Amino acid sequence: MMRWQFSMVLKLVNIMSTNNLAQSSHLDPQVLADLANQNFSDFQLPSNSLSDPRGALPSGVASHSFQPNTSLDLAAIAQQVLDSLQQKAGDDLSTKNPSSLSLSDPRGALPTGATSHAFQPPTSLDVSVVPQQALGGAQQQAGHDALAQNPSSLSFGRSFGVEQFIPNSLLSDLSNPVNDPLVNQIFLGDIQLAKPKNTTLDPLLVRKDFPILSERVNGRQLVWFDNAATTQKPQSVIDRISYFYEHENSNIHRAAHELAARATDAYEGAREKVRAFINAKSVNEIVFVRGTTEAINLVSQSWGRQNLKEGDEIIVSNLEHHANIVPWQLLAKEKGLRIRVIPVNDDGELLLDEYQKLFNSRTKLVSFTHVSNALGTITPAKKIIEIAHAAGVKVLLDGAQSISHMKVDLQDLNPDWFVFSGHKVFGPTGIGALYGKEDLLNATQPWQGGGNMIQDVTFEHTKFHDAPSRFEAGTGNIADAVGLGAAIDYVNSVGIELIDQYEHQLLQYATRLLKEVPGIRLIGTAKHKASVLSFVIPGIKTEDIGAALNKEGIAVRSGHHCAQPILRRMGVETTVRPSLAFYNTCQEVDKMIAVLHRIRSS
Ligand SMILES: Cc1ncc(COP(=O)(O)O)c(C=O)c1O
Repeated sequence: MMRWQFSMVLKLVNIMSTNNLAQSSHLDPQVLADLANQNFSDFQLPSNSLSDPRGALPSGVASHSFQPNTSLDLAAIAQQVLDSLQQKAGDDLSTKNPSSLSLSDPRGALPTGATSHAFQPPTSLDVSVVPQQALGGAQQQAGHDALAQNPSSLSFGRSFGVEQFIPNSLLSDLSNPVNDPLVNQIFLGDIQLAKPKNTTLDPLLVRKDFPILSERVNGRQLVWFDNAATTQKPQSVIDRISYFYEHENSNIHRAAHELAARATDAYEGAREKVRAFINAKSVNEIVFVRGTTEAINLVSQSWGRQNLKEGDEIIVSNLEHHANIVPWQLLAKEKGLRIRVIPVNDDGELLLDEYQKLFNSRTKLVSFTHVSNALGTITPAKKIIEIAHAAGVKVLLDGAQSISHMKVDLQDLNPDWFVFSGHKVFGPTGIGALYGKEDLLNATQPWQGGGNMIQDVTFEHTKFHDAPSRFEAGTGNIADAVGLGAAIDYVNSVGIELIDQYEHQLLQYATRLLKEVPGIRLIGTAKHKASVLSFVIPGIKTEDIGAALNKEGIAVRSGHHCAQPILRRMGVETTVRPSLAFYNTCQEVDKMIAVLHRIRSS
């Protein structure tokens, strides 16, 4: 297995940018010689993002961003990489041409510091040869400090014709399981050739990818414990959206020009990323929507309206967010349906025996959450879905709170619909996805009409596209869909299993310390929980606790969290709710706990 070591290219790019070469139109041999003569060993690479360094890179590399902050002896490496790229790029810039080469979030993988980049050259690099030579050379120079100098992700964008430029022999080589500890992840197009191996999650390193985490609030370092409401965005997502507007912006699908092709590629590429992330069978099962709320409304207003009739019953759980109650209530009012509720025990766990008793011949739908946003309970989703299916009942699973915390495998869980919001998984607001089984989507009439979703229109009649287009009337949120794709790339590069593991430890740590705060009452003590801690301190208003924490720069939510029925079931109207993500640390938990002790004793 050859070893890919693109980190050197990153370094090189950075060196070139910091040497004011970004304006040059090609790689000048003199520049190479100068680079080779420089001593980079004490070179402090700035934390920066360089976009559109066209001309700075071997012809064609159009933009990238990264945040290096360390030093490495690069002289020899730079020379080697440059030589190889230069040679191989040659003068034939018109044909063999990767349009996108990106290395995302190679935490711990690159020589310390380089965290991500992506660029899209319009011209040529014979990547079948160049990476092997250039990276192989760089690899040798990088030495054997494998885990510290290790690309975790190497990807070639969609519009790059993989088949054309990568010899089959190399493809099959890459397709083999990767035992090389230097290789964490390799993508060609959307094909993941190698998966992360033996990595650990270092929260201090990942934090560097999130610019907002350096923000100061009330004179203090921000502590973002409001992740259940929304998550923060890594630089790569921010850059990807900018890149879209700088280089790809166009409406999709309906034009013959280059930018329409780029925008369509980017948008449909994001759909494929969503598909792979949740392990749906087909991209036709992924509908872009505004978020979880819109997705549930879509199902209720299309499938629900068409298939439910007076007397039919819908089962939801006591844990639901209002977004999974109100749309069904609206429909129930209109149609005369009955809503029934799976009860919970005092820990906030669903009672499966009671659930089974709710079924009868009128039951048509179960709609429930994978993780409770108010208590953090992880529901036994697979079991709940199996029970419903055994009764011939369809199931919608609300993944708003699970999507960023655990592996979601829809072919394993087998719901009929699954919904989530991009902003809860480190992506932009205003975009999310509805998954629906393909046959089911195609058997369902659209809920909104307009452009994009039709095959043919006369004044008398319209023929709709199949899914997903039939549910995407009008111009969608193209740029943010692309941003969501970048967020998924980011999560993949960290590794969702590692995220799950790390957050579990952090949750246990925080739970233990919270319990030691005198008088505190934890709301939601289920055995299986994800990332949410809800509590009250009797005698102190939840909003006052929230305000005291905010004074120290600690953002938590206090209120009913759009889940009033479950809070009332637990005997409270409001709670304080810190919610965690993988960029949070034990030190941040300590800060919060210290404030709580202080409030308690004052
Ligand atoms: C479990 C659950 N479902 C649905 C939603 C609604 O999500 P959105 O507001 O992004 O549509 C949320 C938001 O907090 C949630 O936690």
